Amino acid sequence: MMRDRLDRDKIEELIRQAQESYRNAYAPYSQYPVGAAILFASQRIFCGCNVENASYGLTICAERNAIFQGIATGERLLRAVAIAVPTPDPAYPCGACRQVMREFAQDCPVFLVSGDGRRIETNLDALLPHAFGPEFKQGQGE
Ligand code: THU
Repeated sequence: MMRDRLDRDKIEELIRQAQESYRNAYAPYSQYPVGAAILFASQRIFCGCNVENASYGLTICAERNAIFQGIATGERLLRAVAIAVPTPDPAYPCGACRQVMREFAQDCPVFLVSGDGRRIETNLDALLPHAFGPEFKQGQGE
C-alpha cells in the first residue's frame, strides 16, 4: 500500500537523521555521543544530540533535546522516535527521557540504532509500562 511505503520511507529518514545528529553531540566528559530524531504528528522531524556540561548534572540527553525543540516549535504529539549511537550496542533511553516522551504520547514506536546500523524496534509502552501521564493530572483517567 502506498501509505505503508511512505511510512517506511519516513522511518528510514528518521533513523538517518538520528544517525547524523550524534555527530553534533557535545560529549567531552562521557565520550558517548547520542543522536535522536522525533517524528511528530505534523510529519515534521526534529533532531537532538546530548549536550554535556562541566557541571555534570546539567547534561541534557539527545531525546529530550529533540522533543523540546519540537515542543518549542508548536508540536504536541510524538509519532515515532529514533535514537542512534556510534557504538556496537544500541542505547536505550534513560528513565527521565521515557517519562518526557510519555508526556507527549501514550505510545509510539521507538527505534534504537547501533553504530553498524543494527536496529531494535520497541515502543514507549514497553519501555515505560503502567506510566503516570498527563491524563491523570487532567483528571480524565485513561
Ligand atoms: N544519553 C543520552 O543522550 N541519551 C540516552 O538515552 C542515554 C544517555 C547521554 C547523556 C550523557 O551525555 C551520555 O549519554 C552518557 O550518559
